[in-house]
Amino acid sequence: MVREDNDSRHGMWSSRLAFVLAATGSAVGLGNIWRFPYVTAESGGGAFVLIYLFCVVVVGLPIMLAEIIMGRRGRQSPINTLRLLTKESHASGWWTLIGWSGMLVGFMILSFYSVIAGWTLSYTTTYVEVIVTGAEGIGDPQAIFGSLLGNPWKLLGWHTLFMALTAAIVAMGVEKGLERSVRILMPLLFTLLLVLVGYGMTTGYFDDALVYLFKPDFSRITPAVLLDAMGQAFFSLSLGMAAIMAYGAYLPRNIPAGSTAMTIGLADSGVALVAGLAIFPIAIANDLTTGGGGVGFTFTTLPYAFNSMSFGQFFGLAFFGLLAVAAWTSAISLMEPPVAYLVERTRLSRFQAAIVVAIAVWLLGIGTVLSFNAWSDYKLFDRNFQENMEFIASNVLLPLGGLAIAIFAGWVLSKADTRDELHEMKAATYGIWRFLVRYVSPILVFLVFLSAIGVLNLNSESDLAMPAETESAATEETVMEDSAE
Ligand code: PFF
Repeated sequence: MVREDNDSRHGMWSSRLAFVLAATGSAVGLGNIWRFPYVTAESGGGAFVLIYLFCVVVVGLPIMLAEIIMGRRGRQSPINTLRLLTKESHASGWWTLIGWSGMLVGFMILSFYSVIAGWTLSYTTTYVEVIVTGAEGIGDPQAIFGSLLGNPWKLLGWHTLFMALTAAIVAMGVEKGLERSVRILMPLLFTLLLVLVGYGMTTGYFDDALVYLFKPDFSRITPAVLLDAMGQAFFSLSLGMAAIMAYGAYLPRNIPAGSTAMTIGLADSGVALVAGLAIFPIAIANDLTTGGGGVGFTFTTLPYAFNSMSFGQFFGLAFFGLLAVAAWTSAISLMEPPVAYLVERTRLSRFQAAIVVAIAVWLLGIGTVLSFNAWSDYKLFDRNFQENMEFIASNVLLPLGGLAIAIFAGWVLSKADTRDELHEMKAATYGIWRFLVRYVSPILVFLVFLSAIGVLNLNSESDLAMPAETESAATEETVMEDSAE
């Protein structure tokens, strides 16, 4: 069915660039600079990176396109978009579960995301202090990180501030406020990462980093690594929880979805790889990769570089400040689906809905705050609270959501409908997309799950124990210790 042009009640992106910036802002975040390096280190490098990139191209991009066109056809929050599309396709109402599960995962991810983003705020102020006091550097990076994690009140304070900043932008409406930050600050962050890659080249360990990241050791591929790589692809591209679907709802009809998805995917993987190239030479030089990086990998490696670079404190300030902004633009997209839904279904204004969602997420985030200190010994399936949230959300629910979205776009929506959305695409490209989304993505996600059934309730990192000498480098409170079991 050919769709006439129609607008979303939540507003519309002003241009293709606005959408690309917002969606790239969603994709590029802690997933690229905090999560990619540490999961890569825990999975042993090259083989993981290769599978991750494969998942991005073969599973991620087709599903991103599916989310964009589904959102654009529905023009509402994901739940109501799915409701409309299932009705139009005479399909079962169960498909709206994609929207519900998306909201749930959004809550889960945002709750720990906000706490980690709080670390970036904390580091930003630490570098301000270093500059103001004229200190040499921040001191021992491991100790600084350990003392931050050991202090629940500090973590809670930063988590609160970050949630408030996120709610403020969502309350104002997505486009205002977001566009400027992404347009100017994201290229700056990228440039800074390139400077750090330049620094990495001077450490004498750049070649080792290249080998570590890009030379696959296929003996390291285990079901756990497959699942981690696939989960990372979904997490990094913001897929599987209908966040991109929510943004797609505000996309004007005359904008080509295919090339737009490619741009976002390229930017996202580009930032992850450049972050890897910046961080691994430093990590290898300081012998920090041997036991898997631990959740604080980025936060404990880069300060070594800032400590020894000239003007390092200014680079440190810029880096963590910009990383906070990158996290912010991602967090905004995590919050958008539930807020849009509340606005549609209740009498709450956007502002009130943003506050309600922020409070709920904030409360859940307390579990993550305590995971690094008071609750660090409470484990389920060998994972603490935060690790369980991250594992279940990224490695289980996002891929499952993606699987359902692929099946919906490939099998439930008619060929005429998807062709209408992708009318600007060449017939062959459209054919490839439809084949990927109908067969390849669902089958691959299914196979990875099948291979990983044993991993789903065991610790996916159990074979990656941290050797004794690295363990001693970690301070008492750090989570690096947690992964030592
Ligand atoms: N893609 C974001 C990142 O890499 O940091 C995280 C994220 C945002 C995941 C939005 C999921 C999402 F819906």
